[in-house]
Amino acid sequence: MGRQIAHVMGHEGAGWLERDDRQQEEGTDILLRELKLKPTDVVADIGAGTGYFAFQMSQLVPQGKVLAVDIQPEMIAYLKENKARNKVSNVEPILSTKQNPNLPPNSVDLVLIVDAYHEFDYPREMMTAIRKSLTPTGRLALVEYRAEDVNVPIKRIHKMSIEQARKEMAAVGLEFIESVESLPQQHLMFFQRAD
Ligand SMILES: C[S@@+](CC[C@H](N)C(=O)[O-])C[C@H]1O[C@@H](n2cnc3c(N)ncnc32)[C@H](O)[C@@H]1O
Repeated sequence: MGRQIAHVMGHEGAGWLERDDRQQEEGTDILLRELKLKPTDVVADIGAGTGYFAFQMSQLVPQGKVLAVDIQPEMIAYLKENKARNKVSNVEPILSTKQNPNLPPNSVDLVLIVDAYHEFDYPREMMTAIRKSLTPTGRLALVEYRAEDVNVPIKRIHKMSIEQARKEMAAVGLEFIESVESLPQQHLMFFQRAD
């Protein structure tokens, strides 16, 4: 669809995902607030990495749960260790394939994908499966660095424009709701099932 797919960030980059200045640099507290989660929500964090967002979201859904999905077994091991160390009961690490997140159908209230969609090797297959996992009122929150902004200091291949994201989500039956633009460097784009 006119976009070059980036390489998957290796598990060796785990330290970068957990860096001390991340909250300030990316406004991650604003992002979490803008998700407007309900305490009972079932959330799926796709491309969860170390669980930087999954574990913070788990506190916002005390009666719900967070399905933390990744393709790298090393990231799943990291998620399991963190879960045990911090005695978190409502985060479920799930090892996915490159084409299937292995989520139950019609069950997820919010799918969050932060800085990962642009590196999915099979974006259409993944998003088709993710769409099926959403409840009829479920939402997708897609977070990508702004391609429209040359001042965002990230390689072009790791950025995405709203126009490109809308085109790719429309192709799998996901309708654009809105884009929240209060993060310093990223779009926070919301989509829902078109049917
Ligand atoms: C740059 S990291 C971002 C991690 C996390 N979302 C965060 O912001 O801290 C991208 C993650 O996406 C995962 N990933 C890439 N392709 C994937 C796919 N098809 N399905 C699930 N995870 C994938 C990678 O293994 C990696 O852990």
